[in-house]
Amino acid sequence: MVTMETLVSLCKRRGFVFQSSEIYGGTGSCWDYGPFGVELKNNIKRVWWRDFVQRRPDVVGIDASILMHPTVWKASGHLDLFTDPMVDCRECKLRFRADHVDALPWTHYCPATKGNKFTIPAGEPCGHCGARRTLCPNCGKGELTAPRQFNLMFKTFMGPVEEDAAVTYLRPETAQAMFVNFENVLQSMRLKLPFGIAQAGRSFRNEITPGNFIFRSREFEQMEIEYFVNPHDRVDGRPADEHWHDRWIEDCLAWFRRYGLRDEHLRLREHDRDELSHYAKRTVDIDYRFPIGWSELMGIANRTDFDLKQHAKWSGKSLSYFDEERKEHVVPYVVEPAAGVDRALLAFLADAYLEEEVRGEKRVVLRFHPDLAPVKVAVLPLLKKREDIVRTAHAIRDELSRQWRVVYDDTAAIGRLYRRQDEVGTSYCVTVDVQTVGDTDKGERADGKVTIRDRDSMEQIRVPVSQLMAVFGDLLGGAGWADVAAGVGRA
Ligand code: GAP
Repeated sequence: MVTMETLVSLCKRRGFVFQSSEIYGGTGSCWDYGPFGVELKNNIKRVWWRDFVQRRPDVVGIDASILMHPTVWKASGHLDLFTDPMVDCRECKLRFRADHVDALPWTHYCPATKGNKFTIPAGEPCGHCGARRTLCPNCGKGELTAPRQFNLMFKTFMGPVEEDAAVTYLRPETAQAMFVNFENVLQSMRLKLPFGIAQAGRSFRNEITPGNFIFRSREFEQMEIEYFVNPHDRVDGRPADEHWHDRWIEDCLAWFRRYGLRDEHLRLREHDRDELSHYAKRTVDIDYRFPIGWSELMGIANRTDFDLKQHAKWSGKSLSYFDEERKEHVVPYVVEPAAGVDRALLAFLADAYLEEEVRGEKRVVLRFHPDLAPVKVAVLPLLKKREDIVRTAHAIRDELSRQWRVVYDDTAAIGRLYRRQDEVGTSYCVTVDVQTVGDTDKGERADGKVTIRDRDSMEQIRVPVSQLMAVFGDLLGGAGWADVAAGVGRA
C-alpha cells in the first residue's frame, strides 16, 4: 500500500493539499485544498449529496449556521462530555491525549550507553537498558501530569463584548442542526416517518493530538444524515430503528465500494459497550485500511431519541411526531450515518494510487472513479507552434467545459503531458494533431478527428470532433471504454 509520505508529497507537488498558512510556518493541523484537491473534495460531496439526498425520496437537505445557540451544546451533552483526557509535559510543555501517549515513538536518554539519546518505536522497551517509557515521549526528560479532561470545542464570543454571556462555540459536528431544525423541516416539508435530514459542512474540534495529515485535523468537513424512524414501527419483525441501522450500514459500505475503495481495505467494527457515546444504543464504524493502519472512516450510530428529547427539555418546545395511524405523539429514534469528507478523500486517494512500469519507465496514476476525478478531460495540442492546432484545442476545451471540468495544457511534450494528467487522475486526454486540422503546405486534408486516450488502459481511439460531447457523455456517464470504442469504430 502507498505510504502517507508518498501521498503527502504528491498532494503538495500536484496541488491537492497544502499546509495552511505555510509561509508563516503552518497552522497546527489545518490544511488548505489546492486546485485539484478542491475539485476532488467537491466531487465527493456532490456524489454523496446526489446519491443520499437527490436520489432518495425520503431524505431532504439543510445548510445550517456553524455558530449555534450555546444552549445547543449544553443540551447535546457536548459541554459536559465532549472531552478527551490530556496530560502535559512539565518540561517541554507539550500536551498529549492520555490514551494516545503509548502509541507514540518515545525519546530516551539511555543510562546503559552514557546517556545517549534514542528514538524508540511506540510501545517498545529500550534495546540497551530494557527500560519502558515513563517520561514525556517528546523531550524524554519531563514528568507527565495526571490526566485532566479537556473540552474539544472551540470557544468564541458572539458580538462586540468579550464576556461570559457572549460565549459561543464553533460546532464540533453538523448533526445538532438537524435536531434543532427537526420541527421546521417536518412542518415545512410535510414529511412522514421514516425520513432523513442531511447536511454537509464544516466542523471544528480542538484535537489534542491531531496529525496524520488530513486524517485528524482541527477544522474538517462532515457529511451527516439524521434518519428519523418511528420506534413503535416494526420492519420484517424487527424494531424499525434496528432495521434501518443495518440498512444504512449496508448502503454506506456499498457507497464507498462503488466509488473505488477496495473490499480488502474496508471492514465493519462494532463499538464495545464501554466505548459507546453517551447518546448511542449501538454504533458501527466503517474502518478503512489507511496508510497509518486500520482507522475509522465513518460511524453509523443509533442515537435513539436522546437528542430530540434533550432539545425538547432545554428549549421547552415539543419535538415529536404525530403518528396518524396510532393517533399518538412519538419522539422518533435517529439513525446517524456520519462521514468525514477529508477522511473519505484520503481513502479515495490511497486506493486510487498506483505505480506501474510502462515501457521501462515508472508511471504514477490516480485511478479515480470518473465521478470523483478532479479533471475529466485534458485537451493537449501535439504541436504548440501550429496556431490552427492550438486554436482547435482551445475551442474543444471551451465546448467540453460547458459540461465538465476540462483543462488545456501545452507546456511540455505529449508523453510528459500524459504522465502529468495520469498523476492527478484525469480520466481522459484529447490530443489535437496535424491530421485534425490538415496541412495545406503538404496538401493534406483535415480529417476533423482527435485522439482520445483512456487513463487506465492507455488505449486510444480516434473520434470526430463533432461527436466529442456525445462520446464523453457516454464515457463519463458510466459506459465502458470497450463499448464506446467499439461504437466509435463502427461509426
Ligand atoms: N455526529 C456524529 C459524529 O460527529 P464522529 O465519529 O465524531 O461522529 C464522524 O465523526 C466522522 O467525522 C468521523 O468518522 C470522521 O470521518 C470525521 N471526523 C471526526 N473528527 C475528525 C477530525 N478531527 N478530523 C477529520 N475528520 C474527522
